[in-house]
Amino acid sequence: MQKNVELEDGVEVLIREMTRQDAAASLAFFQSLSEEDRAYLRRDVVRPEIIEQRVREVEAGTVIRLLAVVGGEVIADGTLEFSGEEWKRHVGELRLIIAPAFRRRGLGLRMARELFLLAASARVEEILVRMMRPQKAARSIFRKLGFRQEVVLPDYVRDQDGEKQDMILMRCDLEALWQEMEDFVATGDRQRTQ
Ligand SMILES: CC(C)(COP(=O)(O)OP(=O)(O)OC[C@H]1O[C@@H](n2cnc3c(N)ncnc32)[C@H](O)[C@@H]1OP(=O)(O)O)[C@@H](O)C(=O)NCCC(=O)NCCS
Repeated sequence: MQKNVELEDGVEVLIREMTRQDAAASLAFFQSLSEEDRAYLRRDVVRPEIIEQRVREVEAGTVIRLLAVVGGEVIADGTLEFSGEEWKRHVGELRLIIAPAFRRRGLGLRMARELFLLAASARVEEILVRMMRPQKAARSIFRKLGFRQEVVLPDYVRDQDGEKQDMILMRCDLEALWQEMEDFVATGDRQRTQ
């Protein structure tokens, strides 16, 4: 998958799947993030061996990883991870992080939409996102995308500083979402022909 998109302010961004050649640029992206942003990441991605692990996951097909690139620089990373467990094969977990300078410009929504399309073609029926309570922007964007807050587990995770945080789990039923979109388009078509 490879797509050129234009942000709300006219900047051109290339969204494409990650390959091994992106390892150094990907590492540079994570190293450029603030301590605060890195505090909520599941893995300590500033270590080269963790980036190598991420590349291997892509090559093994257990994740789909999209990068957003501007002038050869990685500015966002979006992941859809498939469960290895047989009884959860229809479930994908989504993760998304945008460079602070590119936030609130519509890129998060564009990346999430591309991951949704890839999830649908991989026959994923449901997408989960997990976040810690202080990640307010994340809750806001996923609500906008049709996710619902399902579970709050108090003090369930520790951030990179060792602080306990509530974990919030949101889910999105892709089948219901496609149906809603089809109904919406059909209603629009009816209104246009009336
Ligand atoms: C969450 C995140 C991915 C959003 O990316 P983004 O590119 O800024 O999002 P968009 O510009 O596409 O915003 C889409 C909508 O989400 C909501 N939103 C995004 N950031 C928000 C914020 N800081 N406060 C409130 N609402 C916000 C808004 O409704 C926004 O629409 P609007 O700008 O028209 O009001 C980004 O803030 C980020 O990388 N955060 C750190 C990592 C993280 O929390 N990842 C999610 C956990 S998996």
